[in-house]
Amino acid sequence: MVDDDESLRHAGTLTRKRSARPSGPTLYARPGLAASRNIEFKARDPQPARTLELALGLGAEDCGEIAQRDTYFSRARGRLKLREQQPGDAELIQYRRADMPGARESEYRRVPVADAPALRDALDAALGTLVVVEKRRRLLLHEDVRIHIDEVEGLGSFLELEAVAAQASDLSAEHDKVGRLREELEIGDDALVSQSYSELLLGTPELLLRAAEGAMRNAHAPYSNFKVGAALRTPSGAVYTGANVENASYPQGQCAETSAIGALVTAGETEIAAVAVVAEKMDFCPPCGGCRQRLSEFAGPDTPVHLGRPGGERKTFTLAELFPLSFELAP
Ligand code: THU
Repeated sequence: MVDDDESLRHAGTLTRKRSARPSGPTLYARPGLAASRNIEFKARDPQPARTLELALGLGAEDCGEIAQRDTYFSRARGRLKLREQQPGDAELIQYRRADMPGARESEYRRVPVADAPALRDALDAALGTLVVVEKRRRLLLHEDVRIHIDEVEGLGSFLELEAVAAQASDLSAEHDKVGRLREELEIGDDALVSQSYSELLLGTPELLLRAAEGAMRNAHAPYSNFKVGAALRTPSGAVYTGANVENASYPQGQCAETSAIGALVTAGETEIAAVAVVAEKMDFCPPCGGCRQRLSEFAGPDTPVHLGRPGGERKTFTLAELFPLSFELAP
């Protein structure tokens, strides 16, 4: 998947433990202007050593291990990450992908990066960093399908399969290849994961609270002196944040949750998967009544609402607990 890929341009620099691959076509299209597509699939893998053995048994080519660090930036449309890897070159990767289990299509652009630390700093200053994903990836190739056996910090072991689509492909051949390999590697439906590593990490309340705390620092609250930050995660994995914005004419102010909802809707999103609220001067700041109503417009009864501070104690409620008998317009 483009969430977690690396260029086979780098494959030449990787340790080859089996057959040397001729310098044939790269599996990823050259970085450039046009978006590329692939079919990809991800599953939890409790037995990575066994998967490696199965893959080698099928004749997969072992391209060795890569240490990768992906920095995801906030406020991007779709997803934007800087990949730094050893061995290999740094790249900026922009992509969009459907969130669903099983094999799915991803559209992406890859841009070579000459000075990764400087770009990381610049993008962090301009957009903010959402999350950093670090992993060790064992890369194998089987009939042009990339096999990733990943050990991801904080998340555990995963298997990914990726087939890069030919230019005019209707993607059926890529689906077939990935499906066949999945059977051969004995991956059951219950192991499938629809989210990316960044989303899995961001799904942790701690990271959502951290995003809320970051927003809180920008609150404009000179009248109440009570700064609040909110972070909303959507099913796409994106996180939108907001701070309270007060006004000299007091009723004109708005809460942090409301600001965050505004950012989410403005970005074209319509669903809230998780909420975090952080206040500077309160350990657990429950959303006000009005914001509970606003959240319920985009969240479901089971949506978790995390209250607390990063690194501190946390209380989590479902929206239904905070907002029973919520108002809905009768049809
Ligand atoms: N506030 C929020 O931003 N969210 C809440 O859920 C509770 C209250 C803000 C509104 C106002 O700017 C300040 O906190 C004091 O009420």
